[in-house]
Amino acid sequence: MPNNMLERVLSLRRSTQPHGDEAAGENGDGAADESKTKKQQLPLTMRAANYLTRMGHVGPCLAFLFLTFIAILSLQLFHSRSFVCVSSSYYDPVSRSGFYGFDGLESDFGSLGVPWCRSKHGKTVEWTSKDLLKGLEEFVPIYETRPIKNNMFGMGFDHSFGLWFIAQWLKPDLMIESGAFKGHSTWVLRQAMPDTPIVSLTPRHPEKYLKKGPAYVDGNCTYFAGKDFVDFGSVDWASVMKKHGINNLSRVLVFFDDHQNELKRIKQALKVGFQHLVFEDNYDTGTGDHYSLRQICDQFYIRGGGHSCFKDSDEARIRSKRKKFWEKAVDIEELCGPGEAWWGVRGYVRDNFNHSNEPISLARHFENSRFLESILDVYWELPPVAGPSLTHQSRYDPARAPSPIVEDGRYRLFQRLGLTRLETSVFNGYTQMVYIQISKQEI
Ligand SMILES: C[S@@+](CC[C@H](N)C(=O)[O-])C[C@H]1O[C@@H](n2cnc3c(N)ncnc32)[C@H](O)[C@@H]1O
Repeated sequence: MPNNMLERVLSLRRSTQPHGDEAAGENGDGAADESKTKKQQLPLTMRAANYLTRMGHVGPCLAFLFLTFIAILSLQLFHSRSFVCVSSSYYDPVSRSGFYGFDGLESDFGSLGVPWCRSKHGKTVEWTSKDLLKGLEEFVPIYETRPIKNNMFGMGFDHSFGLWFIAQWLKPDLMIESGAFKGHSTWVLRQAMPDTPIVSLTPRHPEKYLKKGPAYVDGNCTYFAGKDFVDFGSVDWASVMKKHGINNLSRVLVFFDDHQNELKRIKQALKVGFQHLVFEDNYDTGTGDHYSLRQICDQFYIRGGGHSCFKDSDEARIRSKRKKFWEKAVDIEELCGPGEAWWGVRGYVRDNFNHSNEPISLARHFENSRFLESILDVYWELPPVAGPSLTHQSRYDPARAPSPIVEDGRYRLFQRLGLTRLETSVFNGYTQMVYIQISKQEI
């Protein structure tokens, strides 16, 4: 493996992906985003279809009859256009229209699309979906040993896997995390790299949580916490690097789960010279408590980006349909603020768990995306680990996420990976975690 992480990560292959929490607890705390691991009920039709998927070869005829019955019913109710029998041994992507409401909603995916951030030279990560699958197989048993079983307001399974995968792939010499809560993410970093030092910045020391229940405190971690807390932007990084014997900043991985404006964090990281960053909550436009990369890159010139607040538009129609199926989907009323401002969150840049928010013009929002593109070497969004018919999540809209690692209908694979052993609530917290690599603008 090459020494330089930069070489390790990059490949010139083009991405196929243009395609808080208590956590709000102590600082900004209390301004909780809803639970990331909250249990959700799927629409009845989706659950029924999923159940039949799991029957495998046992009852294709029964499945066909049942689905036909549901199809006729839904034709009456929803003027449905499509209906397909699904079996676990044969996966037809068209069948997902059955899961997503019997209304051909999948055909709407293209019109809403999945916005993404353009990198300078179109570079992407080195790992493939095969590597992710292999990683999943390895990570599930590790995750089952986690000390904090119920990490409400912290990371669920998808992002825990993403962070672990990225850290063990990059093999950094130092890992920094901003926003530790009870220490679950610290534990994930430790599983990826058993001997690598960690620096953790978090207002409340995770040991405080130990008094009330499970928490994780790491023995090889320097905590800037409690009375020693320093915000990432104010740390004397030169002295921290010296203390840890780091002279190559391309060997450091920084993980942010502190619900701060991500543009602010990127500028701070760039100033120090950090290159490898992970943002846990890469909120979609109109959602979340801080300005995110997703939001910044949501621009008219990106497929799936730019929005219309016109009430009779196709977008309004699609959004209102999707809102019925996905709890986190936003319709036009939620998306658009005064003056039809749709960017950021209703035309605002949120920061610090939404304790601060400022209006931003569309022109400024556009400038932010151009700045980001000028310093981005790699942008990679973690896909959801599995499709919603498998995980039973009903929160985030799959139309606004990359294709899952384990696609809907692949129940046997889902089972083989050990994912059926996990509680369904751990799949609820996906918010497009992103890994980026940055470097200063070339002049
Ligand atoms: C969503 S939680 C982190 C969850 C944790 N990473 C996990 O996976 O379990 C956000 C954390 O950020 C902390 N926080 C708030 N302001 C912060 C800041 N300026 N810098 C670092 N952490 C901050 C909060 O106190 C909280 O513990």
